[in-house]
Amino acid sequence: MSVEARRYAVFGHPIAHSLSPEIHSAFAKQLGIALDYRVIDAAPVVFEAEVRRFFAEGGHGANVTMPHKLVALAMADEVTEAAKRAGAANTLTHLGNGRIEAHNTDGSGFVRDITERHGFDLRGHDALLLGAGGAAKAVAWALMDAGVKTLTIVNRTPERADELADAIGEPARCHTRYWDGLDGECFDLVVNATSIGFDGGKFDLPMSIVQDHSTAYDICYGTAAAGFKGWAVAAGVRPDWFRDGLGMLIEQAADGFERWHGQRPDTDPVYRELRQRF
Ligand code: ATR
Repeated sequence: MSVEARRYAVFGHPIAHSLSPEIHSAFAKQLGIALDYRVIDAAPVVFEAEVRRFFAEGGHGANVTMPHKLVALAMADEVTEAAKRAGAANTLTHLGNGRIEAHNTDGSGFVRDITERHGFDLRGHDALLLGAGGAAKAVAWALMDAGVKTLTIVNRTPERADELADAIGEPARCHTRYWDGLDGECFDLVVNATSIGFDGGKFDLPMSIVQDHSTAYDICYGTAAAGFKGWAVAAGVRPDWFRDGLGMLIEQAADGFERWHGQRPDTDPVYRELRQRF
């Protein structure tokens, strides 16, 4: 008797280039799990209805990407601490009877990638975070939980950075600066969680904020990370100490996969395979 595949999907708009189906399928194959994982392109006006329909028709879990992460949080009946902190959800689970749980694996995926894959021990280091959107929030909390010595947050709209630092509520360790007020500071780690790279914008930051011992990390990967890499290397970061977000993408997927299937996949073979292409 064949086992019926459990149904999952990723929702986004646009979504054609998502790597999620390939990543989840590779994990499932590795662990011998039968999986039906679809891509659903849902415009914002139909997103919530499409998710509810998917779950009503037997869907078990859904990944959610741009631009739906805020609505995904708002429509849920149960919200995990990680999703609450990020103010956004990237993982929805059908709890039964139409009830939905919202979770966020961006922060845990980021920390797992930078610590376990890249061997960067966050404890005791001074970190700078660029951005204060949903992804940045997840990363900020994760950096704090992982034990950074200090976390400085800058954002184009400074009020959003202040709100995030206030929510974290550890002023001795986490504070904000104005985007153009970083002169004279130097960081062990600079994380780009803005969408500047998607728009081909420039990183207008003093080069003195990094030295050759600094690590730079862009939560985007591929061409979207090229602009920040260019800035970081020009500022003195060693090229092999620049990391992009491909590993974070795979680790956040693995965290969602483990939540749904109760088994943790080995992410290294998937990372090696995708690294050849990006
Ligand atoms: P996400 O949920 O993916 O993080 P978002 O909430 O739209 O997306 O956040 C995008 C981030 O990139 C924000 O921090 C945004 O700054 P604002 O809060 O001022 O909007 C930042 N960002 C986008 N374009 C930028 C630019 N050209 N220069 C500086 N920051 C930019």
